[in-house]
Order: sequence, then C-alpha cells, then structure tokens
Amino acid sequence: MGGEDGTGWRTVAKLSEFRHGALLVEVEGTTIGLIRQGEKVYAYRNSCPHQGGPVAEGNLVGNTQCRVAEGGLRRQTVSRSRLNLACPWHGIEYDLETGVCKGDARMRLKSYKVLVEDGLVRIRP
Ligand code: FES
Repeated sequence: MGGEDGTGWRTVAKLSEFRHGALLVEVEGTTIGLIRQGEKVYAYRNSCPHQGGPVAEGNLVGNTQCRVAEGGLRRQTVSRSRLNLACPWHGIEYDLETGVCKGDARMRLKSYKVLVEDGLVRIRP
C-alpha cells in the first residue's frame, strides 16, 4: 500500500479493509498476516516456525490454560476473551497477543509492531 515513511513505519492497509480475521499483505517479499480483533491488530509473518505453514491463515480459538490437579486430573480453562492462533497445517497454537507457542515456549511467531491511526494500519518491520 505505502512505502516506509522515514520513521520505520510502513502503511500496509486500511482498517476498514477487514473486520475480523486475517488480511495478508506483502512487504518487501515477505507475506505478513494482519489479524484483527475488534480495534486491535496483530501482525505476524505468515510462516509457522514448525514447518513453514501459513499460520496467519489459521483459525482463532479460545486460549486454553491447563493445570494438573491433585491426583493427576487435568483441568482446562478456555478463555474466549484471549485467543490462540492455530496453524492450519498441524494445529500448533500460538498466543495471539504474544506469538508464543502454547506447547513449546521456545517457538514464537515473527511479530511486527502495529500502529492503527486515522483508519490506517501501519507496521514496523
Ligand atoms: S507448519 Fe504450522 S503446525 Fe506445522
């Protein structure tokens, strides 16, 4: 959409272009998924750290928190206010807010800073 403006920020989309879910944009040969949740937008490279799947095109699912209770019983809580992004290839989930893998914190999505102002989505690669 727009080039880098000298401050490091690059305008990549209009907020009105998408309501929920992902919008893919190309920035210098890299596909980046913009994922909108209400007025908040997250930006991740569309490449899963597992095997390179198109992670930004995955589904948003409730953020699952597990704990093991006494006697080994597993308790699960699913938050609908906090979400995970599930890669469409093998289902690995990443915390939408942080990009950190829920099953292995050593894996995380490549993220970009996002600024939404005047109806424009700007990212800083
Ligand atoms: S490539 Fe994403 S889960 Fe395997």
